[in-house]
Amino acid sequence: MIFEQVVTGGCQSYLLGCEVTRAAVLVDPEISQIDRYRGLASQHGLHIRYLIDTHTHADHFSAADELAMAIGAPVVMHRLAAAPYAGMRLDDGDTLIAGELRLKALHTPGHTRDSMCLVMADRVFTGDTLLIGGTGRSDLPTGDPHALYESLFDKLLKLPPQTLVYPAHDYKGRTHSTIGAEIAENPRLAVKDRAAFVAMMQNLNLSAPTHLTEALRTNMSGGKTVAQLLSAAAAKVPFMAQDELRDRLGGNTRDLVILDVREKDAFEAAHLPGAVHLPRGQLELRVNAELPDPTVRIITCCEFGKISTLAAATLRELGYGRVTALDGGVSAWREAGFPVEKANADL
Ligand SMILES: [Fe+2]
Repeated sequence: MIFEQVVTGGCQSYLLGCEVTRAAVLVDPEISQIDRYRGLASQHGLHIRYLIDTHTHADHFSAADELAMAIGAPVVMHRLAAAPYAGMRLDDGDTLIAGELRLKALHTPGHTRDSMCLVMADRVFTGDTLLIGGTGRSDLPTGDPHALYESLFDKLLKLPPQTLVYPAHDYKGRTHSTIGAEIAENPRLAVKDRAAFVAMMQNLNLSAPTHLTEALRTNMSGGKTVAQLLSAAAAKVPFMAQDELRDRLGGNTRDLVILDVREKDAFEAAHLPGAVHLPRGQLELRVNAELPDPTVRIITCCEFGKISTLAAATLRELGYGRVTALDGGVSAWREAGFPVEKANADL
């Protein structure tokens, strides 16, 4: 078997490949690692057949939907998953076959109601049901400490003790554990009475994970993250370096329009010399009147270089073929000590 564990911050994802048929499965892919997964699959000569999310993640962004569209493999989740993009839904005990690999789904609700663990030969991918020295929390939407107790003690921990445990998270750089080691050493499992377990889980007082709203919004709906929108826009526009633009400003001829897309107050406080002002929120409404020549060279800028990237992508989509975005924003321009104007140059 080909086995790659991809670590991103505290997230762990797994590429599993069949050496005989080159069919592969990707477990819990994370959005920032899409190129890495595809690169690893190519490097091993693998074709990814299934993209599995062990549950609806609330703390990071699943890459399953985007990868599914890119490579044409279905997203596999438990049947209770809310995500509309899950193309294959599993029940407890279902087995997924990819070449000679066989992954059996165990429905293990508790962390979320759609949590499942995947048993494959000598190992189990536990998602957030069982972590090394911990368990997933049960206080987020659809979580249930009673269900988590049953999933752990009546199901997952009944696997042979030598079974290798590969969780969806580890924050201390550990790669895996075993069922036996967790039963012996995991402090959350030391409470073997159901009531005590539930009380412990209800009194963890954990703070909400960062990105909770955005993670649930995107992972449950297939909607885009803000980073995805920015990345898609950035892939469609060229950029101009700040020092390149400063040098061009020094020349006598001005063959370009610097388009500042920030709000009025920010523009009036300080803007690039000669910049014209057209706030992003009014871009589509005013573009024909303000930029009548679609062949003009335009450089968009904003405070940090992100909204200007979106604006540049929109302008390119509208047919302005020579739009670039300033690499970095007015904030970096000021910090570099490059010249600014304060006069009102509203279009
Ligand atoms: Fe989770």
